Amino acid sequence: MSQSSALEFIRQAHPAPTPPDRRTAILRDPGFGRVFTDHMVTIRYTEGKGWHDAVIGPRGPIAMDPAAAVLHYSQEIFEGLKAYRTADGGAVMFRPGENARRFQKSAERLAMPSLPEDLFVAALEHLVSIDRDWIPEGDGSLYLRPFMFASEVFLGVKPSSEYLFIVIASPVGSYFKSKDSAVSVWVSQDLTRAAPGGTGAAKCGGNYAASLLAQMEAAKEGCEQVVFLDATERRWIEELGGMNIFFAFEDGSMQTPPLGGTILPGITRASIIALARDMGITVREEPYSFDQWRADAASGRLKETFACGTAAVLTPIGTVRSRDGNFTIGNGRSAAQTEKLRSTLIDIQRTRAADPHGWVHKV
Ligand code: COI
Repeated sequence: MSQSSALEFIRQAHPAPTPPDRRTAILRDPGFGRVFTDHMVTIRYTEGKGWHDAVIGPRGPIAMDPAAAVLHYSQEIFEGLKAYRTADGGAVMFRPGENARRFQKSAERLAMPSLPEDLFVAALEHLVSIDRDWIPEGDGSLYLRPFMFASEVFLGVKPSSEYLFIVIASPVGSYFKSKDSAVSVWVSQDLTRAAPGGTGAAKCGGNYAASLLAQMEAAKEGCEQVVFLDATERRWIEELGGMNIFFAFEDGSMQTPPLGGTILPGITRASIIALARDMGITVREEPYSFDQWRADAASGRLKETFACGTAAVLTPIGTVRSRDGNFTIGNGRSAAQTEKLRSTLIDIQRTRAADPHGWVHKV
């Protein structure tokens, strides 16, 4: 038990935790997001009372009234971050304070209550501590998924007066099946993800739901991911729906779309910008059009393109398809800039390298 924001976490014993040999078997090849640890954290919010009843207990189904507001009006937000095993047997998380602050911003946009940063981080620490044995060895990590939803039983359209905050954890390997090769993307020229004034910068489930039809279109076209263009002109590259995007040029500079309210402010994105600038690389946060992307790939001015996010880390983009034709970036595989940034970031996350920005949080 510990105190955070004057809230005590109550620990409930697990009646039947996963036997160690079964856990070891699961950790050998966890995939992404299909297996989960033994515990979860729950914290309730009630208007007039604030945050209360912080519990670390067995992970399991939650009872929901069919009239719970989230099931009808989608008042829901979430986060994603990872915990890593360290060489000395300890555990670390990467920039959890940034996730806490983005969670607060998402909550504000969705008219939800703000969860104090120390309470958010304490909830993560409790879960990682109790399920530490679930952190995979080697390249894997423990993906942490904090989320909050409207739990008031009411069908009127208004901000809920009750919420449930939960953290679950999932041991993960690579997000993409083919972890060593570049992915192909489909540029969606009809369906968009987020409009100015909308919720594009918030990490809410609705944004991801809105991306799924375009993602299905991408799959039909033989692509792993979809690239969204801006909703106003259908001209400027925004993001992949669950990942930000970077371009690297022959002069050594890099570019990524600016955060204008329709793009998720990725923590991996911000970390890459900082690391690239540490290396002396010029990084522009400026609009980049689909037409320019195609022209620069053809002329050879563009050398690399990669997607980035907590789940994807840095994933090279090799082939771009659209209804106007296809093109390839470089030789269609990962290249030097992407690999250098990827290994620099991973080495910091896994405490194999110095942490000049103080991003790593010991548990
Ligand atoms: C993450 O990278 O953490 C996300 O939330 C994106 C999703 C594709 C898993």
